[in-house]
Amino acid sequence: RMLLADAFHAPECGALEVLAQALIEIGGDGHIVRLTRPGEAGYTDALERAEGEDRLTRMPPGHYLLPGFVDTHVHAPQYPQLGAALDVPLEVWLQRYTFPLEARYADLAFAGEVYGRLVDDLLSSGTTTALYFATIHQEATRLLVDLCLEKGQRALIGKVAMDHPENCPDFYRDASPEAAIEGTRALIDYIGTHPGNGEGRVLPVITPRFIPACTDAALEGLGRLAAECGCHVQTHCSESDWAHGYVLARYGISDAASLDRFGLMTRRTILAHANFLDEEDMDRVKARGSGIAHCPLSNAYFADSIFPLRRALEKGLHVGLGTDISGGPSGFMPEAARGAVLVSRILESGADPVRSRAERASGASTRIDFREAFHLVTAGGGQALDLPIGLFRPGYAFDAVLIDTTADKGGIRLFGEEDGETILQKIVYGAARANIARVWVDGLAVA
Ligand code: GUN
Ligand code: FE
Repeated sequence: RMLLADAFHAPECGALEVLAQALIEIGGDGHIVRLTRPGEAGYTDALERAEGEDRLTRMPPGHYLLPGFVDTHVHAPQYPQLGAALDVPLEVWLQRYTFPLEARYADLAFAGEVYGRLVDDLLSSGTTTALYFATIHQEATRLLVDLCLEKGQRALIGKVAMDHPENCPDFYRDASPEAAIEGTRALIDYIGTHPGNGEGRVLPVITPRFIPACTDAALEGLGRLAAECGCHVQTHCSESDWAHGYVLARYGISDAASLDRFGLMTRRTILAHANFLDEEDMDRVKARGSGIAHCPLSNAYFADSIFPLRRALEKGLHVGLGTDISGGPSGFMPEAARGAVLVSRILESGADPVRSRAERASGASTRIDFREAFHLVTAGGGQALDLPIGLFRPGYAFDAVLIDTTADKGGIRLFGEEDGETILQKIVYGAARANIARVWVDGLAVA
């Protein structure tokens, strides 16, 4: 199959490639076989041949192709409270709203209804890959796996492990460290042997919620499991001053250093938030090759700090963006991109007294712009997850979003004078869900 499209992607952070009238050949496995640009050898031949053989799809004028969005931090069960319950600090929010909501996923009918709507809504929002926290429940988490496979979303899914009797309520926690570990192993087996998952589009994730919610025995066992199975790991790391301080008090070393000690910091680990990482922590994350899910909207409510994104990028850390449904009020990845730009500028303005002073002392700018934000929601997320997604490049999965700038549905307004970079800038800052005309995962239309 061949697609002719005006496309954008960002292989390097900060560098945008405008691929005008690119010819993209997609193999039977949904991976990109070749991308040819006008003027390159074979372009005209390939175009004419595909047209003659009726294998060519031309994107309509005013439509632009982007790599699908990669959301590196989503709590699937929290979807019913998206945009609500944002009035209290993290530790209160968890106990008052979030644990009671997540406990309801013992009810499979409820789980099926919420998860079905979530996956549909995220796909039609252009999120082709999501890294999900589910709940502690085996059956409901399997249902999320089934729904992602059925609806065609690329997904990385974890059964949440949380067994700490003091920090988790009686009505919502793993019964023991063994339950947390064996429940995780059971989900890994379920995903690995699922008859509908031949392509490995859904992957299992070892998911200790965060250190405060887990006993040492659970963290040790999950670390051993990570070494044994090599699969992804996700957790919250140094999210708020409270969470950061709790780990320091419990172990006398930082959250990042503690996760590393438990064997939970690997190339396939994603640390959500990571707001309070110091220089030494960042060096450790770099050495392990772990990724960070930067969640700018959620951080505004729960972090009491701003993530030093520019510094992390300059250190060469793998960074993606996350909506943190429902810690942030939006599940739409362009909102996360806008949030990342906004808070990078607020950090420079001095709004975060401690962090801003430190950043200013280094003399460097803390800003990112739409180019970097676009990279982070696509290729950056793919790199953080260690998956071949987020770029229009041979060998990468054809996961893509088609943006319709002609529909008068709010969002983007083009005046016909814009160059490629300006069009993408308008998409990053202005796109609404209504501008998303079509979505593909592995070459298959999913929305
Ligand atoms: N820390 C532990 N659990 C959670 C959660 O569900 N959301 C956020 N934002 N932080 C957490
Ligand atoms: Fe979170």
